[in-house]
Amino acid sequence: MAKVAKGNHLNQSAFWLILIIEFLLLLSISSREIPPTDNSPPVRLETSHPGIVIVDNGLVQVTFENPTGNLLGIRYKGIDNVFQWRNKPHNRGYWDVVWGDDGVFDEMETEHFNVITQTDDILEISFNRTWTSENWSVPLNVDKRYIIRRGVPGIHAYAILERQENFPSTHMSQLRLVFKLLGDRFHHMALSDTRQTIMPTEQERKNSPTLEMKEASLITNTTNPELKGQVDDKYQFSYENKDNKLHGWIADSENENPAVGFWIITPSNEFRIGGPHKQELTSHVGPTAMVVFASGHYVGKDIDTYFEQGKPWKKVLGPVFIYLNSASTKDSDSHKTLWGDAKRQLRDEIESWPYNFTRSDDFPSAEGRGNVRGQLIVRDRYMETGLIMPAGSAYVGLAPPGEAGSWQRDAKGYQFWTQADEHGRFEINHVRPEDYNLYAWVPGFIGDYRLNLTITIQPGNKIDLGSLIYDPPRNGPTLWEIGIPDRKAAEFFIPDPYPTRMNRICKDPADRYRQYGLWDRYTDLYPDGDLVYTVGKSNYSQDWFFAHVLRRVDNNTRVPTTWQIRFNLDNVQMRGLYTLQLVVASAASSDVQVRFNDPFSHRPHFTTHRIGWDNAIARHGIHGLYRLYSIVVPGFRLRYGENTIFLTQPRNFGTFTGVMYDYIRLEGPAF
Ligand SMILES: *[C@@H]1O[C@H](CO)[C@@H](O)[C@H](O)[C@H]1NC(C)=O
Ligand SMILES: *[C@@H]1O[C@H](CO)[C@@H](O)[C@H](O)[C@H]1NC(C)=O
Ligand SMILES: *[C@@H]1O[C@H](CO)[C@@H](O)[C@H](O)[C@H]1NC(C)=O
Ligand SMILES: *[C@@H]1O[C@H](CO)[C@@H](O)[C@H](O)[C@H]1NC(C)=O
Ligand SMILES: *[C@@H]1O[C@H](CO)[C@@H](O)[C@H](O)[C@H]1NC(C)=O
Ligand SMILES: *[C@@H]1O[C@H](CO)[C@@H](O)[C@H](O)[C@H]1NC(C)=O
Ligand SMILES: *[C@@H]1O[C@H](CO)[C@@H](O)[C@H](O)[C@H]1NC(C)=O
Repeated sequence: MAKVAKGNHLNQSAFWLILIIEFLLLLSISSREIPPTDNSPPVRLETSHPGIVIVDNGLVQVTFENPTGNLLGIRYKGIDNVFQWRNKPHNRGYWDVVWGDDGVFDEMETEHFNVITQTDDILEISFNRTWTSENWSVPLNVDKRYIIRRGVPGIHAYAILERQENFPSTHMSQLRLVFKLLGDRFHHMALSDTRQTIMPTEQERKNSPTLEMKEASLITNTTNPELKGQVDDKYQFSYENKDNKLHGWIADSENENPAVGFWIITPSNEFRIGGPHKQELTSHVGPTAMVVFASGHYVGKDIDTYFEQGKPWKKVLGPVFIYLNSASTKDSDSHKTLWGDAKRQLRDEIESWPYNFTRSDDFPSAEGRGNVRGQLIVRDRYMETGLIMPAGSAYVGLAPPGEAGSWQRDAKGYQFWTQADEHGRFEINHVRPEDYNLYAWVPGFIGDYRLNLTITIQPGNKIDLGSLIYDPPRNGPTLWEIGIPDRKAAEFFIPDPYPTRMNRICKDPADRYRQYGLWDRYTDLYPDGDLVYTVGKSNYSQDWFFAHVLRRVDNNTRVPTTWQIRFNLDNVQMRGLYTLQLVVASAASSDVQVRFNDPFSHRPHFTTHRIGWDNAIARHGIHGLYRLYSIVVPGFRLRYGENTIFLTQPRNFGTFTGVMYDYIRLEGPAF
């Protein structure tokens, strides 16, 4: 399990000295109201105090710990420090990595401070460290960069991580930039237009009982009636990479001071791992706001990343933008104002991506990047709509060379994804110079596309790939199908949550699957026997439970379950080959066994064997990793009239064991 390594941060007396210096500095600086225009004051850098570096642009005053590169404080509007100043210096604004077989946290505290660029308009500073074999720390060179610009109320932050040829092999499983905000002030969390709520405090959470999933609490000990009896669970706030662009916190107006927003803006997800559908955490109780660059969440050890000695590696994480805004004290709808302004700022950041003001050679600006376009077409001769159709809304991306679908397990490279238009046309912009494969998947079709060609991007390249054809897996005509091929289980039956296990932030119908405890509703719906789905009669949105879970037989015992799909065949080609396309959207320590017509046959016709560590059932994801099984079924396994497919998940590693299906299809023999 994870443990915290001792960092080289300051001792207790130095900590108090810094607090006192910070306090005196605050007294000496009068509060100014300066609109973000060209009249804004120049960016000033103050390095004369021991152990700290202060940057001030008249809008924000940011204090860094020197040389560790931790953020100690941000002074903004009426708030002296938006961070939890009671926390130790290494626990307010920091980067961290989990590495090695024991999963040790390393906060990547640095040893040198450098000014990279300093003008009245912009300041870029660097905190770096070089790995040596004498130091017990993650074998990485670390360069943390912070940029503060004139007239801009925030900080652009990025990090350059590097492994040289001689660095020992290791593995890393998590990389983050974390902020712990002032709990006395920041109470309202905002993740989207609909996902916003007042949050319990850290203390309220601590005083409340933990639920079966230990990261979840039932908030009982609170004076706030809005929160009493609600579930709190950080995994309910996760986002897919493609949507993980803006989240943060609001401090309501207090005394004469305006309401203040603290936002994390991620204009590009090129540096995140696992592709557009990988889910990561965002903000949660603390108040905490994070950028998660890499983690095993919703994938598990399938995405653990091993770094080998002799293979140099370098990656730029970010830049991301830490944005602060404020509303007028008279604003009666300040949450909406601040969220709306943060969304506007997100649009501005996306428009100016890739940034042209960073100074590291490792972050190419627009001219240093390339562009790839083309059109993807699907060819499927058994579709009623015709042989050839555009891959409308296809997800198309460039990722490190590998097998089809390998991008969802890649944690080392950059990935560039876009969504095609209704004609399947796509354009991928601002691609870093590197070697890639082009990958895609098409909503409504199974499988993964990969173009068998290494695409080498060079600065200024504009590559037109023309028309590309995707032949999705298919052996014969559809006899029946269950669900929609879209890599998730959201179209299936998602039960109402228990009234005692609700979280208000999931009230939007699109977020139903994020409620706590839905796995247990299976037993309520199927108390005595397991799910039976009858093709032609059942409706997958009502009769197919979204997760194939264990069934409770008494309060403490759960048993594996077998689901049945019943269907009629009025014609069977005994010598023909049928195909069962079984598509799994998530798996946690599971095995799916498939039997035809004989539930007791000792050996299943097919087994996936043990698969999956994604824990997406416990963590309210509606998918984890995508897995497709094309199972050949000789005609003699089937019979005229009634047939039954038995789907057994025989393993029991506790409540959260199970799979989610994406889609199931039976195909007849080819004609
Ligand atoms: C790190 O800082 C040292 C000391 O200022 C400097 O010599 C070195 O070039 C820096 N390394 C990088 C990678 O920037
Ligand atoms: C790492 O080693 C260098 C010398 O090899 C030393 O100067 C530095 O203080 C060490 N850093 C840590 C964090 O122990
Ligand atoms: C509820 O919270 C109060 C104040 O934080 C604390 O004193 C009390 O012990 C808590 N009660 C329980 C049952 O945890
Ligand atoms: C940098 O980008 C901004 C906005 O994207 C643009 O207005 C500005 O002219 C650019 N500056 C340079 C030096 O290219
Ligand atoms: C990819 O192309 C190479 C050479 O063009 C060929 O040898 C190989 O079989 C192809 N691989 C696939 C999976 O089509
Ligand atoms: C299946 O159920 C859904 C949701 O209740 C409903 O909207 C849909 O029309 C039903 N489909 C059929 C074919 O009855
Ligand atoms: C299950 O728990 C309920 C409530 O705690 C109790 O009434 C019931 O007797 C228990 N059933 C079994 C089989 O243990």
